[in-house]
Amino acid sequence: MFHQITSQRRALLAATFSALALVACGKKETPPPAPAAAAAPAAAPSPAPVKVYTVGTDAAYAPFEKMSASNEVEGLTVDLLKAAAAKGGFEVKFVNTPWEGIFKTLDSGERDIVASSVTITDERKQTMDFSKPYFDAVQLIAVKEDSKVAKFDDLKKLKVGVQTGTTGDEVVQKLLGKTSANIKRFESTPLALQELTAGGVSAVVADNGVVQHYIANNPNAKFKSVSDASFVAEQYGFAVKKGNAELLAKINTGIDAIKADGSYDTIMAKYFGAKPAAAAAPAASAPAPAASK
Ligand code: ARG
Repeated sequence: MFHQITSQRRALLAATFSALALVACGKKETPPPAPAAAAAPAAAPSPAPVKVYTVGTDAAYAPFEKMSASNEVEGLTVDLLKAAAAKGGFEVKFVNTPWEGIFKTLDSGERDIVASSVTITDERKQTMDFSKPYFDAVQLIAVKEDSKVAKFDDLKKLKVGVQTGTTGDEVVQKLLGKTSANIKRFESTPLALQELTAGGVSAVVADNGVVQHYIANNPNAKFKSVSDASFVAEQYGFAVKKGNAELLAKINTGIDAIKADGSYDTIMAKYFGAKPAAAAAPAASAPAPAASK
């Protein structure tokens, strides 16, 4: 059958394949080699395809990361990493990923980057690499408005909610003991905060930006925040697989560029108002994050 194909049809087929290859170029990281087709017009060499990296994000962390009405990951983290990527010469595709086990997705190759308000810690640095810090944070206590809790130490005898495996979890372990039955661990920070409403815990310890955002957007919950001088300054970084220096360099180039050209500040203003985040300032006096829709 095949030998019956005329040379004309052969040329047509070759041209079709070339066209398909061109279409593929726009989408794939590595285009298939163009078929050796004498009939195909010499296509202009296409620019090196831009790499698309898969980003893991626990999108239950407003205003940093959340799911939009159309089921896409959005928030400050997304705006920031997309802007940095544009400057660093790469693209990102966000995938909502449960916090528990999120770091393992780097080693398994399921995700190239974890962008999830991840605090850079010495312990985590053993198993993954971090970009330059891009945001300052600190732990903050959420309690009901009528609570007598005035400082971290007051939580000693209380049930405290945290998101499993977060820096909030670590801090509370130090106060209550690693194995304390009074530490109630939740899969997400909003679930811990809902349990505060339900009365199952007396306090929640989590990142200041998220606690403040929740309080501002859930006035009916009647929560207040309590800061404590013992909480150490934290910084968020983008995490990559240990040793992925190539990607790390691109991310860092991007972060530097958006800080230099003012787009970093513009994104901060979008979420926290005109003043920069002030996350490192005493949390109780920091301005509440702008309400999100
Ligand atoms: N900054 C804290 C940590 O690194 C909490 C981050 C939680 N992020 C999230 N998207 N749930 O442990």
